[in-house]
Amino acid sequence: MQADLIIRGAEIIDGTGAPRRKGDVAVTDDRIVATGDLRNWSAGRVVGGKSRVVAPGFIDPHVHHDAALLTRPDMEFMTSQGVTTVINGNCGFSVAPLKDTSAVPEPLRMVVEDENCLFSTFAAYRDRLMSEPSAVNAACLIGHTTLRINEVPDLGRPADPGQVQAMSRSLDQALAEGAIGLSTGTYYPPSRAAPISELIALARIAQAHGKLYVTHMRDEADRVVEALEETFQVGRESGCGVHVSHHKCAGLANHGKSEITLRMIDQAIKTQDVGLDTTPWVASSTILDSGRHKQATRVMIAESEPHPEFAGRDLDDVARLWNTDIDDALQRLLPAMGIFFIMDEADVQRIMSYEHTMICSDGIPGGSHPHPRVWGTFPRVLGRYARDLGLFTMEESVRRMTSMPADRFGLGGRGRIAVGAFADLVIFDPANISEGATFERPIAPAKGIDRVMVNGREVWVDGRKTGARPGRPLEQTAPVKVV
Ligand code: ZN
Ligand code: CU
Repeated sequence: MQADLIIRGAEIIDGTGAPRRKGDVAVTDDRIVATGDLRNWSAGRVVGGKSRVVAPGFIDPHVHHDAALLTRPDMEFMTSQGVTTVINGNCGFSVAPLKDTSAVPEPLRMVVEDENCLFSTFAAYRDRLMSEPSAVNAACLIGHTTLRINEVPDLGRPADPGQVQAMSRSLDQALAEGAIGLSTGTYYPPSRAAPISELIALARIAQAHGKLYVTHMRDEADRVVEALEETFQVGRESGCGVHVSHHKCAGLANHGKSEITLRMIDQAIKTQDVGLDTTPWVASSTILDSGRHKQATRVMIAESEPHPEFAGRDLDDVARLWNTDIDDALQRLLPAMGIFFIMDEADVQRIMSYEHTMICSDGIPGGSHPHPRVWGTFPRVLGRYARDLGLFTMEESVRRMTSMPADRFGLGGRGRIAVGAFADLVIFDPANISEGATFERPIAPAKGIDRVMVNGREVWVDGRKTGARPGRPLEQTAPVKVV
């Protein structure tokens, strides 16, 4: 038997959570054609897998790389950590469908710099991804905030019935054109005025397409319990599956609350479709003027338009330097992005190891001093949390990065090493894998990632991008599942 490429003698972690087994993986074209003992197979190329793990490429279910796919198509911050598929359009922000693409509206500035990366229809965005492919596969959600920008002239108000209908129609069209669900970000001002009825109306459209309602909830701090209740209610009244993004309990007063929130999810999941993802860090990152600084024990500046020289510095230091208070310093740094130390390590570990949680980076790629999650999330989970702290087995952590997100979002043929599956693969050294990125030096590739393959083509080899861009836009091809 003959294949294009065989990875020989690796430990296969297949993405299902099953224990690793020694074997070979054969790839022809964009597919896995055989696994196991392939002694009697030959191949055009052989890659040695001795003392290495081969796993399905990681699927990041929550990123903000909608525009980065076009402006930074090699996507090294993803491929260097083993990620082969991303899901964009999160937290209510998507680059399509946007009626007026002549200027980037304020709330979208966090994720898009350039108006050439805004699209009036989802189909136009998809076409662009087809004609200018990136290194990774990408699926996309449609953002409620983007729909609001189109239809609700005063974002400080609830949408009226006509506006809800207009948003529903354009969501319906985008989902028919291949978007994989709806995202909301009622935490952010442009969508804060949306009452639950507006959310339910849109979730009904997602439900009609068999797709998910994915949410950066209204509150992840003092009112996280109420926000979770609201999310469950949206699910119950629309019949739509709900997915809680980057679940956290922010602020000192809320440390420990994940015991309550996870119990609530456990209860809800018995009667309705609920899922969640989380990041492996005690700090979050968003716009500097989000109000998060009030809950944080430390705030770093990720980037500042008027003061780029302060990227990477603590907000405290800048205030001291300017001889002023925190709020004044913050105002003078805007527009800016911040990194906020707001979570408790015990909550982070409790949420991450909860049986229904998958791993995400929530990466926002811009700026000279981003959150280290942009480059380091997946190796950090495999190295620090699985290998070093034993929070779960490496097999289980791989499952939370592969088959779980694939099954949750209905990405058929992804997330497993199996005959017939797409050849999205990562080869890594389990003894040495770890994040290279730190809060001090956030732009650095991971350690221990040897090779990354997308649709059968190598995109990252021995610490370097190859320049290949085999990524494809992905659609939902299987029913969504509770995982
Ligand atoms: Zn978010
Ligand atoms: Cu996000």
